[in-house]
Amino acid sequence: MASKPSKPKPLTLPFILFLIALLLFTIHYLKQLHSEFHAPTKSATNPKWFEVVARETGHENINIGLVNMDETTITDEIHTSGKMVKVRFNPVDKGIEWSDLFPEWIDENSASNCPELPMPEFEDYGELDVVVARVPCTGDSGERNVLRLQVNLVVANLLVRSGRVKNGISRPVFAVFIGSCGPMWEIFRCDDLLWHGGDSWVYKPELRRIKQKVFMPVGSCQLAPAFAQSGEELWRRHSETCNYIPREAYVTVLHSSEAYVCGAIALAQSIIQSNTTKDLVLLADDHISPESIQGLRSAGWKIKRIQRIRSPHSKKDAYNEWNYSKLRIWQLREYDKVMFIDSDLIVTRNIDDFFIYPQLSAVGNDKHIFNSGLMLVEPSMCTFKTLMKKRFVVGSYNGGDQGFLNEVFPWWHRLPAKLNQLKFFGSVHDYTHEIPHDMYTIHYLGLKPWMCYKDYDCNWDKSETQIFASDSANERWWRVYDAMPKKLRHFCSLTPAMDARIQKYRSRAKNAGFPDGHWTIKVKDPRRNST
Ligand SMILES: *[C@@H]1O[C@H](CO)[C@@H](O)[C@H](O)[C@H]1NC(C)=O
Ligand SMILES: *[C@@H]1O[C@H](CO)[C@@H](O)[C@H](O)[C@H]1NC(C)=O
Repeated sequence: MASKPSKPKPLTLPFILFLIALLLFTIHYLKQLHSEFHAPTKSATNPKWFEVVARETGHENINIGLVNMDETTITDEIHTSGKMVKVRFNPVDKGIEWSDLFPEWIDENSASNCPELPMPEFEDYGELDVVVARVPCTGDSGERNVLRLQVNLVVANLLVRSGRVKNGISRPVFAVFIGSCGPMWEIFRCDDLLWHGGDSWVYKPELRRIKQKVFMPVGSCQLAPAFAQSGEELWRRHSETCNYIPREAYVTVLHSSEAYVCGAIALAQSIIQSNTTKDLVLLADDHISPESIQGLRSAGWKIKRIQRIRSPHSKKDAYNEWNYSKLRIWQLREYDKVMFIDSDLIVTRNIDDFFIYPQLSAVGNDKHIFNSGLMLVEPSMCTFKTLMKKRFVVGSYNGGDQGFLNEVFPWWHRLPAKLNQLKFFGSVHDYTHEIPHDMYTIHYLGLKPWMCYKDYDCNWDKSETQIFASDSANERWWRVYDAMPKKLRHFCSLTPAMDARIQKYRSRAKNAGFPDGHWTIKVKDPRRNST
């Protein structure tokens, strides 16, 4: 039997609701399509960093290079009438660790190599206005993160190669870092920070300084003479085109006691005897008497008075309680670069050429760290302020400045060991302890020469200090003394207390019959009679 045609059912309420929903969805979809083809006005959706860059450049025709970022996520966010390219490079081999870039020791006399940190093909990315990079901020290696270094170096290299010079004016280039930790401040100076909000950081780097850094090896795994030379050429050429004479100075610091006043006078004299062209600046706290200041001034130092800075991590009255006073060298804004030298060193050859190195350059100490007794740094107010803040939160393995500075400047450049030649001898049975004749400085560890006799190094008289004893090094220091103006010599006089201490250890050495026999030397030091 044929079925009866059924009555049309009335439209039910659920069905109506479904139709309305479909209609709304269609409208929404069409709107979406529309907005993809007709980008809304740029400033309405562009991220804040883009606005900062656009304001600086004065236009929105900005070529963007993307580093360590996925362009599909970002093309929706940025609307530029310029080009946007993803910069391609291979991530550094996971097996490479910080200690491979910063080995304890390298053979400075033969060509040493650093592990490779792959870089992009720079020719593919000319004429960028801004490089945007996502910086990796996580990982248990903290500041010493190899991938983070690679990303920072890729950005620095791209900027240097994009910074075209037009009519003698180099076009400004910008770096944007996305990530809570920001860029490495060893490469991107805080002075160049334009804007920071949330996880975004906008920099307008001074290309002259960035150039020097990209010419350095990627770590202390290599000495940098060749790099330094090409850097120097760049620096000179820049100076010539801009008629600019770099402002540079040697700096030392005296605080808490007068024990090193003689050392600082000898240091100044040794630098002057090397025919330097740089300024000499000494920072002194109020423990240094006006009379000593007068002597230091006539020795060649320009004097600046400072307040000493307490080491937050050292014990009360510890030997290094006030060593953070050294941080004040970053306040010397009147200089582009300063070479800090401890007051227990002397310079034995002209070292002016080493000013070509960028911050922070120093000689290796042990493990991955540098010795803070001689350092090339670039003064800067914001660096100083940052250091003052960081000193409370960053530790120091020895409570002193060296431990702290190594934590805040993990990326440093290796100077030849001869530039901070530690007077130190491991061997017990060698009684000559000759220093090499081609060193640039001598760093007098142990008892200081002015606390000994001219005749020999009194470190020989104590078994604990024999590792520091060297008659040739002692002789070299007294040569500086002999060449200085006579009126300065009394700052290095032998006090009765110093004399008594030397005699005490001499007689002990005699009683023990120390085989080096320095206690048999007949002392002729004229300072014994003049006090
Ligand atoms: C410094 O200059 C003087 C005079 O020109 C010269 O006699 C001396 O050898 C120079 N010293 C050094 C270390 O070059
Ligand atoms: C700290 O300063 C004192 C006194 O100036 C000095 O004897 C000592 O070598 C310094 N220590 C370090 C770790 O720099």
